[in-house]
This record gives sequence, structure tokens and C-alpha cells, in this order.
Amino acid sequence: MNRREFLAASLLLGVHSALPASSSAGDAVAAAGGWLDEAHALINDAARAPSSHNSQPWQIALHEGEHWSLSRAPGRSLQVVAPDGRECWQSLGAFLVALEVAAAARGLQLEAGDCAGATSAVPLHLSPRSVDTTWLPALRRRRTLRKALAPLTGCEATLAACLAAAPSARFFAHGSPAARLIADATLEATAAQCKDDAVWHELARWIRWQESELAGNPTGITPATMELPWLAQRWVAATYSRDEVLAPAFRARSLELAARQTQEGGGWLAFSTESDTPTDWRHAGAELMRLWLRAVPAGIALHPMSQAVEALPQRRAVEAALGLEHLQLLVRVGKRDYPPDTPSPRLAAQRISVLS
Ligand SMILES: Cc1cc2nc3c(=O)[nH]c(=O)nc-3n(C[C@H](O)[C@H](O)[C@H](O)COP(=O)(O)O)c2cc1C
Repeated sequence: MNRREFLAASLLLGVHSALPASSSAGDAVAAAGGWLDEAHALINDAARAPSSHNSQPWQIALHEGEHWSLSRAPGRSLQVVAPDGRECWQSLGAFLVALEVAAAARGLQLEAGDCAGATSAVPLHLSPRSVDTTWLPALRRRRTLRKALAPLTGCEATLAACLAAAPSARFFAHGSPAARLIADATLEATAAQCKDDAVWHELARWIRWQESELAGNPTGITPATMELPWLAQRWVAATYSRDEVLAPAFRARSLELAARQTQEGGGWLAFSTESDTPTDWRHAGAELMRLWLRAVPAGIALHPMSQAVEALPQRRAVEAALGLEHLQLLVRVGKRDYPPDTPSPRLAAQRISVLS
């Protein structure tokens, strides 16, 4: 048995069955530690999945080595911009694909069952399979790139190959009437959100201006993930607080930034589904992640811009104009190589999983 097979076997044996009946308490902790450490390593990889405002709304219960369940983490979802749980389930869908990739790299097949409703847990089952590390490097390197997205000239065929992993996504090239319509709807929705104090109170709770905030709560958006220039990062860390986000000037700058972003890149991806249930939301998030993992090695950057999905008038306008049933995600896309670093903070596996 090689090391990977051994690790897969220890995960599958689980905490209870790994212990011989005569083992002492010390042996028990050591044996549980072996598979639990491996489970945590797997979960840490999966946690590189994207989530709206980096809320990381996932929570895993480890019932036994091979039976886990995934549910929404209390307090880590966006109640103002997505009160129905849409973005939370999209993030969980992306997380499930990441979990599948991290498990395959350790010789484990992940199967995720259906969940009964928006607040129910998703049953997960792990079983042995051949080791497949194909997508692990992309999972570890993937990040949201928000600036300097270049046109996709010469990458059309690569993008089409990536799109094969996401049947619910359609691409609208920059400059086309559909792409202009999405850009306009995004700006209208952003302008409407600028007038809604609750949106900015919520955003303020998810921005971590100072690094010291991250030690206790490694979630949310930071000056580095906003891709502020180095000096600006130092400036905001030294002078900004939550109050800055609530000021009219911050909203005006956010609108200006959105306007610049919608002008650059190679176009838009619109994800849509035939019905509009938590299962559809989860599947849209899963397809986003499958596409994203393929985009990383191709140097194609993805930037979700959710404003026109969150604001109902703009969502309905985009659906009607593009002939889509239920719009799920709007993602800006453009050419840009992925830097080696992934600065977005993450909660450690110990904080997002519990033994039950
Ligand atoms: C469902 C969903 C919606 C998102 N919406 C936005 C958005 O509107 N604007 C944005 O800049 N990023 C958006 N993101 C990207 C997240 O902010 C990003 O994934 C998170 O901050 C973690 O950073 P990372 O992707 O670099 O790991 C979204 C991501 C998901 C999964």
C-alpha cells in the first residue's frame, strides 16, 4: 500500500472503526488524529473555493470517515443582497466541486446527495477511487482577478473548451449588444445599491481593512484582494475603518470602479437555469467552479459581478433581453495570467468542520 492509498484507507476507516477495541485513550487520540489530519488537509484545499464577499458559508459535519454532510454556516451569509440564500448556495456549489477535486487528489470519490430544502444539509459520501491530481494545482492557484482584464483575442477556442464544463453559461463578447446590456444593467444596479444604506452596512461588515482583524476572523475582502496598489493598501490599513464604507464618497468611488471594470476585458458569462430553486443555485455555483478551474491554466480571469442579479428590476431586464429563464450569475471574463499568490484569507478546516 503506498502513502496515498494508506491515507485514503485511513479516511475511509474513520474515527470509530480505526480504533481496535483494546486501544487506550492515548492510542485513540493518535489514531483519530491520523485520519482527521488528512480530512482537514482535504477540507483546507476545498476551502479555496470562491464565495460572495468571501463569506465562506460552508460547514462540514464529519459523522464517520466516509460519511460527511455539508450545511450553511450560521452567520456567514449575505442577508441583505441575497436574502433568499442564492449566493450562499452558489458558493456551496463551488465548494462541493472543490471538495471533489481535493478528494480525487487523495484517491477518494466524493458523491453529494440532494438536500431537502434551502436550510437542509447535503449528505456526502467518500469511497475509494484512483488518485487524480489533474485539477489540484488550479484549485490552489485560482483567485478572483478584478483588474487589468485584457481582451480575449486569440483565446476564443480555449474559452469555448472551458465553456464545455458549464452548459448553463453563455458567453457574450465585449462590444456586442448583449454585453453592453449586461454592463449597463450592472451599472444601474450598482447605482441603485448606492442609495441603499443596508447594502453598505453589510459590505462594511465583510471588509477587513487591518490585518489584525484577520487573525480572529479570516473571512471577507481585504485591500490585497481588492488589488489596491501597495501604497494604497498601507494607507487604507492605517486610516480606514468601517465608517469609510458608509460614506457617500466610498459609494461614488465604487460606482466609478464598476464603470471602469465593465469597460475592460473580453466579455461576459451569463449563467442561467430553467427553474430557480436552491438546487439550481448550487448547480450554477458548481458550473462556475468547473469552468474556473479550466480557465486558470489557460490564463483566463473570471470576475463575478453580482449587482444585476441581486437587484430584481435589472435581473428581470437582462433575462427578458437575452431570453434567459432564470439568471444566476454574471461574470466578467478576460485574459490575465494568475499570479502565484492567493491573498484571500480562509478559515482553517478546524473552524469549518465538526466531528459529530
Ligand atoms: C456567488 C458569488 C458571487 C460573487 N460576487 C462578486 C461580486 O459581485 N463582486 C466581486 O468583486 N466578487 C464577487 N465574487 C468573488 C468573491 O468576492 C471571491 O470569491 C471571494 O472574495 C474570495 O476570493 P477569491 O475568489 O480570490 O478566493 C463572487 C463569488 C461568488 C462565488
